[in-house]
Amino acid sequence: MGEIRVALAGLGNCASALIQGVHYYRNARADEDVPGLMHVDFGGYFPRDLKFVAAFEVNRNKIGHDIAEAMWVKPNCAPIFAPDVPRTGVEVMPGPILDGVAPHMRDSFFTYDESEIQPVDVTEELRKAKADLLINYLPVGSEAGARMYAQAALDAGIGFINAMPEFIVSDPNSPHEKEFLRKGLPCAGDDVKSQLGATILHRVLTQLFDQRGLVVLNTYQLNIGGDTDFENMQVEARLKSKRISKTAAVTSCVDYELPTKIGPSDYVPFLENNKVCYITMRAKSFGDQQIDLFLKLSVQDSTNSAGVIIDVARAVKIALDRGIGGELSSISSYSFKHPRYQIDDFEGRKRVDQFIEGKRER
Ligand SMILES: NC(=O)c1ccc[n+]([C@@H]2O[C@H](COP(=O)([O-])OP(=O)(O)OC[C@H]3O[C@@H](n4cnc5c(N)ncnc54)[C@H](O)[C@@H]3O)[C@@H](O)[C@H]2O)c1
Repeated sequence: MGEIRVALAGLGNCASALIQGVHYYRNARADEDVPGLMHVDFGGYFPRDLKFVAAFEVNRNKIGHDIAEAMWVKPNCAPIFAPDVPRTGVEVMPGPILDGVAPHMRDSFFTYDESEIQPVDVTEELRKAKADLLINYLPVGSEAGARMYAQAALDAGIGFINAMPEFIVSDPNSPHEKEFLRKGLPCAGDDVKSQLGATILHRVLTQLFDQRGLVVLNTYQLNIGGDTDFENMQVEARLKSKRISKTAAVTSCVDYELPTKIGPSDYVPFLENNKVCYITMRAKSFGDQQIDLFLKLSVQDSTNSAGVIIDVARAVKIALDRGIGGELSSISSYSFKHPRYQIDDFEGRKRVDQFIEGKRER
């Protein structure tokens, strides 16, 4: 079917896991059961078809280095499961900093000095690289940065994937999404939902309680981690959209008001990329009796999202091949915490397969 030319805004842990995964699964064959992948063959595209053709960063120790070298540079701490990723021949470029770097993150991100390094013109570089799509992996709270990269994708005439919680694809009033639709360019988002993370687990449990006639009286989901994603999220002002995204993903599963406390809870440096989640659900069951559920989930955060994005990139490429523009509903509902349409996750999977077969337009 050909290659999928991917550009990356932010070469942090999620990008590292994605690049490693594409190499790790390079020999995956459709007629084999491949543990870890949700789709081996996705409409004729395989994980190995993703090719990384551009990357934008603010970390001075990553800029100017081959993508396959820069992805190991600190503060990245994603698990190393494919240490032999070959050089890409593509050097990491300085992207405009904007609000991508919160004041407390300047040192942690080894942010370049703007008096010494000039950012590139992102649109021009996307065109030069002949990218098919751009993945936005900017830190939570990058309101302006996320929109700048979305606009650059639009101006370069390519697809866009929004992996972080700025409501660019899901908001029906988003001027960017309207423009993607008008230009016939596909986009998917917002805020990637991990393969088996806190969100999907909490959603499925909430649906289960509901279907079994239980009323959830109260629930919380506390998340701790030790990477820069969690370090960045220590500042409450940057967290508004993340809290909305994670909370709405759960409260949308029932048709009554659900009291919740859901969100990133603390930064624990020694955990590095290991994210630990605690979910508690208190419900009323038959005869008004109380049921309490206590759950602890421990994952590597970056690898948990990478396989999902491999599917999303292939969906966006199929939409490009078919000339479909605007928000891609099926893959967005299935793969993101804050899609435009929150639907049952098992139904979401069905819709993605219908999209692949061409039985569903978007
Ligand atoms: N499972 C998951 O890991 C998961 C799930 C949902 C959402 N997300 C979101 O995905 C995003 C990426 O997560 P991550 O773990 O890779 O974070 P990270 O901190 O490892 O990476 C972010 C990268 O962006 C770079 N950056 C900052 N400003 C920039 C700019 N203006 N231009 C280019 N690069 C810039 C930083 O230097 C850093 O390398 C975060 O917003 C996170 O919340 C991740």
